[in-house]
Amino acid sequence: MKQKLVIPEEVPETVMEEPARKQEKETLITDLPGVGAATAEKMVAAGYDNVMAIAVASPGELIEAAGVTEAASRKMISAARDALSMGFESGEEIMKRREKVRKISTGSKNFDALLGGGFETSAITECFGEFGSGKTQLAHILSVQVQKQFPESVAVYIDTENTFRPERIKTLAEAIGLDPTKALKNVKVARAYNSDHQMLLVDKVEELIKNQKLNVKIVVVDSLTAHFRAEFVGRGTLADRQQKLNRHMHALMKLADIYNLSVYVTNQVMAKPDIFFGDPTQAIGGHIVAHASTFRIYMRKGKKGSRVAKLIDSPSLPEGEANFYLEADGLRDT
Ligand code: GTP
Ligand code: MG
Repeated sequence: MKQKLVIPEEVPETVMEEPARKQEKETLITDLPGVGAATAEKMVAAGYDNVMAIAVASPGELIEAAGVTEAASRKMISAARDALSMGFESGEEIMKRREKVRKISTGSKNFDALLGGGFETSAITECFGEFGSGKTQLAHILSVQVQKQFPESVAVYIDTENTFRPERIKTLAEAIGLDPTKALKNVKVARAYNSDHQMLLVDKVEELIKNQKLNVKIVVVDSLTAHFRAEFVGRGTLADRQQKLNRHMHALMKLADIYNLSVYVTNQVMAKPDIFFGDPTQAIGGHIVAHASTFRIYMRKGKKGSRVAKLIDSPSLPEGEANFYLEADGLRDT
């Protein structure tokens, strides 16, 4: 049967886009010189299950893990480093990559201006603030706005607190002239039941992109820290929690970087009882989350039911604040 060729009137911008950083062509550890099945098995058992782990290992570590000679381990490490092209990039190359960065509008002029245009792709934006400050609402808003800006794009929504509401997506989509049914279809939601599951879901995002060829432009993790906070309680667990959270943040960073997508994570605050001046709250997750985030926004309730977003630190934007109202059909500037 002959198939009719349909030429779309408008090729969505994002379809033509290349990823921000070319993904290393997947090298397996068995592709490295001197790594046969038996050696590979020993290395995997010792935790060296990917090329990056080998690239950053020392010869001594590999000798111990796989019982290979020093010369062989040096060869493996050097091949792993080549495979990952871990060298320097020129400023020009980075500039070129930065040109591919897009900004997702929040629907509020004030908020967008604070962020230099919106939520950046190829970056992690963390939003922290007290309950009801609007972190989850913003997650819904971005999941819809992204679709307006990038036709045929998909939002991935990792929901840890069961606060995703499809009806919010519908209302928000209608408000900006999108087909609500289609908008709902293009939000892929997964409920994360614990921190391990949450981390696994991040790996699954890569499958959505690679196997299902979805044009994922934003990944929401709401809340980033709730499970971690609930699971690691008591003295002596903090280091473990932070280590795990660190791995999670790195997986998210890699996604953002390789696929030129925006990562939006939310974070609660806790009371800081020893503070008498200034804001007596502090983000959970500490330095690990703070450092891994490209942009950090502190959200709080403002006057007359408004909300205030404050940019805490960003690589290139001045600190500042934006004021707006959270409304049923999105953000409205004050
Ligand atoms: P926690 O997850 O508890 O830390 O809070 P959050 O920062 O995620 O707050 P969230 O985004 O859930 O904010 C809820 C607030 O959004 C409500 O208090 C309302 O003031 C406001 N809001 C405005 N319009 C709507 C609406 O249509 N639905 C809902 N659920 N909230 C709305
Ligand atoms: Mg919430």
